[in-house]
Formats: sequence, structure tokens, C-alpha cells
Amino acid sequence: MVNIGEDINLAANLLKEGKLVAIPTETVYGLAANGLDTDAIIKIYQAKNRPLFDPLILHSNSIQKIENLADLSNPLARKLAETFWPGPLTLVLPRKKIIPDLITSGLETVAVRIPRHPLTLKLLSVLEFPLAAPSANPFGYISPTTAQHVAAQLGDKVDYILDGGACSVGLESTIIGFENEQPVIYRLGGLAVEAIEKITGKISINRNLSSNPKAPGMLKTHYAPRKPLLIGDIAKLLEENNHKKCGVLSFSETFTGNNVLAMELLSTQKDYAEAARNLFSKMRLLDESEAELILTEFLPEDFLGKAINDRLIRAAAK
Ligand code: TXA
Ligand code: MG
Repeated sequence: MVNIGEDINLAANLLKEGKLVAIPTETVYGLAANGLDTDAIIKIYQAKNRPLFDPLILHSNSIQKIENLADLSNPLARKLAETFWPGPLTLVLPRKKIIPDLITSGLETVAVRIPRHPLTLKLLSVLEFPLAAPSANPFGYISPTTAQHVAAQLGDKVDYILDGGACSVGLESTIIGFENEQPVIYRLGGLAVEAIEKITGKISINRNLSSNPKAPGMLKTHYAPRKPLLIGDIAKLLEENNHKKCGVLSFSETFTGNNVLAMELLSTQKDYAEAARNLFSKMRLLDESEAELILTEFLPEDFLGKAINDRLIRAAAK
């Protein structure tokens, strides 16, 4: 059985020895290792079965420490960092030499963020190195939002799981890069576009590069359950699949029928933040249920609805 607990000293010591520790963040759980130690970083790729062309995010607890890793001189980048860190925002910035190529997959940029979780901020504050941490799921599968999700999927591959409870945001960070000094969203996520645009003005979204992706969160299939997932008008989908055992994932409305085997609501109050928090754990429940397929619907494209729809599209892709 994997060791799960709240012991920051133990987590820090294991990380200093080059071991893997799963850490809580406000977005999803991360699979962390010393981000300056190549041997430790390789273990992350191996544990996740992640292709080496998919670069990692470095996490730290202060802008000052981040500046040792990346160039924050772009005024808009700095403004975004000062406004939203700690929080669900990742910035892709010019890298400093100290960073191993394995972190960036050889790119000249590095992804950095300060997560907003008290346990992990404490942990980062006692470490002299940043933590490389992708989501703590096998590559391509649904991201974990509790310590138990991590234990179920990567329990035999991590040395410790730092348990910080259920993630308060529930969607991965929004990733912003810069092209010709202008900000571009590479991955929709837990920080809503509307909030970002208050700082940047109208921002472009470039999420669909499927070959040579800037962010494999951009890959067509990602965040996916094992069962087929269909998106549309749930009532209609239930009719069309009346001989199948269906699991339903709806925004706020309950559906009934002989073929409804399991029913999960994202938010009875139609609250986007609550829906985001529930998305991955409910998808996971339906994936583990007796249902043969999962039926779901798009949310309105406001606030976090946009990022939730992005994850649904990738979960449905073959
Ligand atoms: O919320 C999050 O961001 C979580 C928590 C643990 O912090 N982490 C996370 O990491 O989602 P991961 O590895 O699952 O997704 C990181 C994304 C990948 O899609 C990767 O391609 C992109 O960041 N990325 C990393 N470095 C990049 C770079 N230099 N340029 C463009 N994209 C980059
Ligand atoms: Mg991931």
C-alpha cells in the first residue's frame, strides 16, 4: 500500500533524495520530482508513461524563485503573474540555462506556475529546487482531484502522496504563452478567459494544434475515460442508445429511463466553479460504473464552461 499523509518533512526529504511524491494543488494533483535533477525527472515520464516530447511545468512558491528559472521581463507576463499567482495559471516564458532539457523537451521556453494550496506552498518554501509536476494520472487518462484517485492509478509508482483533500478548482491551470510579445492561451483551464482579459484585453486562443503541439493538453485525445463518451442532447442520446446501459453526466438536470444505469450531476445550481470541481471525479465514477457508455452535454460557453467543454471534447475524441 502506498503511504498517504500530510507530512511535509517526509515529502521534502523524499524529494531531496530524487524520489516521486504526489502533491495537491488547487487544480489537480501533480506527480512531483526535483525539477533540476534529470534522473528524478525521468522517473516522472516513466511513471506516467508520458512521451518525452511533452514538456513539464515547474512549480515554485515565489516570483523571485521563478525568476531564476524563467525570464519574466515581458511586462504583461509580470502583470499576469502578480495578479493571478498563487493560482491556476501557467506561463510559458523564455527559459534560463539552469533548466534541464528534459523539462522543456528541448524548447527554448519553460512552463512555470505558483500553485495555490497551503500544503504544497509550505513544501515548496522548504525546498531549494522547483518541482516538476504533471497531473498525476497515466498519460491520456482523467486527471486526479483527490489523493485516492492518485493511489488508485499510480499508487505503486509514487513514494508518497501528500494528501491535501479534494482540489478546489478541479481543472488544470490555464496556460498562456507569448508570440511576438503578445499573450496567447495554449490551454483553457481553471482561470477563466474573462478574468485574464481584464488584464490583457482580448486574447487569442490557440488550442487546436494537433501535430507538434505547443501544449499536449492540446492533443485531440486527452483527459479521457476508458468508456466511449458521447456529447449532445442527452434525452436524444438516451433514445438512440435505448439498448445500452448508459451513464449520464449532466450539468444540472436529472434524466431517468430504463437504460439510465448511473446518473451524475455537475451542479444542481448551474454553478460553473462547482461543475469544474466535480467534472473529473464524476467522469471517473461513471467510468468505473457498470455503464457501457457515458452520455453528456456541453455547458454554456461562459466562464469555466469553455474549459469544461474543451475537456469534454478531448474526452470524447477517439
Ligand atoms: O494545473 C496544472 O497545470 C497541473 C498541476 C499539477 O500544476 N499540471 C499539469 O501538467 O496539468 P501537465 O503536464 O499535465 O500539463 C502541462 C502542459 C502540457 O500540455 C505541456 O505540453 C505544456 O503544459 N507545456 C509545458 N511546457 C511547455 C512549453 N515550454 N511550451 C508549451 N507548452 C508547454
Ligand atoms: Mg495532464
